[in-house]
Amino acid sequence: SFQIRGALNAVRSLVEEGERGGAGLPRAVVTHSSGNHGQALACAAQAEGIPAYVAVPRTAPRCKQAAIRAYGATLVPCEPSDESRAETASRVVQETGGVMVHPNQEPAVIAGQGTIALEVLEQAPEINAVVAPVGGGGMIAGIAVAIKALRPDVKVFAAEPCNADDCYQSKVRGELTPNRHPPETIADAVKTSIGPNTWPIIRDLVDDVLTVSEEEIKRATRLVWERMKLLIEPTAGVGVAAVLSEQFQAVPRDVENVCIVLCGGNVDLSSLTWLTDLPGKAE
Ligand SMILES: Cc1ncc(COP(=O)(O)O)c(C=O)c1O
Repeated sequence: SFQIRGALNAVRSLVEEGERGGAGLPRAVVTHSSGNHGQALACAAQAEGIPAYVAVPRTAPRCKQAAIRAYGATLVPCEPSDESRAETASRVVQETGGVMVHPNQEPAVIAGQGTIALEVLEQAPEINAVVAPVGGGGMIAGIAVAIKALRPDVKVFAAEPCNADDCYQSKVRGELTPNRHPPETIADAVKTSIGPNTWPIIRDLVDDVLTVSEEEIKRATRLVWERMKLLIEPTAGVGVAAVLSEQFQAVPRDVENVCIVLCGGNVDLSSLTWLTDLPGKAE
């Protein structure tokens, strides 16, 4: 997924700080994650020889949990709520003396995600709009900061499942409004709510938030698999669904060239029954 951008920036910044201040490498890095940031942080930390600990909801896709372990991190299971994720990670920080790298509120993570926009503008300067899914908001905030600084004429849209619409509600109310309950959505990477660092950026720089149903997410994901031959995960289907939705018809006609960020491809293949019914059964 795109998460390696933010995780690498955060880990390399910590390493540089340690070198400048003479403190050396951090003892460990710690985070909580629906799975993709955890993989990215584990990978970035492994490259620097720093131990990584990741609090992961028990319900996270198996493929994401397995990849976090494969990158050498210690996985600490937690409950699927924002509170349990945060509590578990802060307990691990205390136990290990590690440094917390928040998956979406850490400024170095947000800045790293913003490099998506830099590359898009370089490769497709003709765009009029960028659409990206929003969970904690690190990706959309990083993108919005870069786009509005360099090309304020380009619109920035966040896309979100109706079942996890804290970003939409926050925009409507004009104040940070987290999801009240752990959301039920197939888009597992955007169950988390936006937070105190990403909210003001989203409030000021994101043009609109588009919400989509579970059925729209599934149809859009399937469309991309079938017609584009790209193995996106359902969370990436959220952006596609938003652009195919009726709401998007209301976007001004001069928005012709739209960039949808296909943000991840960690599909839980064990959810495909025809595949798991095979004799000898693959995980
Ligand atoms: C594939 C994918 N898309 C979107 C997001 C949402 O990113 P953010 O939490 O920065 O809004 C994530 C976060 O884990 C992700 O893994």
